[in-house]
Amino acid sequence: MRRLLVAGNWKMHGSRAENAALLDAFLRAEPPAGDAEVLVCPPFVYLHELARQLRENDVALGAQDVCAEPVGAHTGEVSAAMLRDVGCTYVIVGHSERRALYGEDDQLVARKFVAAQRERLVPILCVGETLDERESGRTAEVVLRQLDAVLELAGVEGFRDAVLAYEPVWAIGTGKNATSAQAQEVHALLRARIAAKDANMAACLRILYGGSVKAANAAELFAMPDVDGGLVGGASLNGEEFRRICGAAGKQET
Ligand code: PGA
Repeated sequence: MRRLLVAGNWKMHGSRAENAALLDAFLRAEPPAGDAEVLVCPPFVYLHELARQLRENDVALGAQDVCAEPVGAHTGEVSAAMLRDVGCTYVIVGHSERRALYGEDDQLVARKFVAAQRERLVPILCVGETLDERESGRTAEVVLRQLDAVLELAGVEGFRDAVLAYEPVWAIGTGKNATSAQAQEVHALLRARIAAKDANMAACLRILYGGSVKAANAAELFAMPDVDGGLVGGASLNGEEFRRICGAAGKQET
């Protein structure tokens, strides 16, 4: 069965002192996550230090973005090999904030996905529709277009070591999560797209839900058959809250 994954996306938050306090609050008690896997994704500059702090604990480290190119004259960018070098095992690609604020299109996101895998990082591919797209009945069209761009470049084989994250843009940072039924519907759609090419691969693929996940709604979301964990933004910045979300994942049957 699929092992649930709870990933904390810290976005552009934190400082060395705040990170230490957050981890302390999170790690203080018993590992809360049962069989579920836990991952934190801090800003680039904190990765190295956190890799050392997390080594003793069963918490994985991921980055929030990666350059599509492997090396060279790309001022300001960070390569997949560098992420690997400092201890990352995961990287988020195609987060809606990257798409909306930094102009990343489906093709660039697909190249980042492939660049990550070349260095044996597990990409967490984010897809999701805006409120406008949902209200005009285009949710399926948008998320499948975003997924198809990656399928085209990476092939279905690319999803053997990858994670998908459904993050409706209207739910991110708004406090208004998708209902468990809304999430399940889109997750099932995404899994079916992969299953059409490779049913075994689809059955093993983890699909996370993201968008205002908190302790109060995590158990209900994680209980849905196609929801295999969460990508948690705001609530992962509170150690106790994040622990409770991981606890909700730990209690699910996997
Ligand atoms: P949120 O963010 O949990 O604060 O809504 C989720 C994300 O953007 O990954």
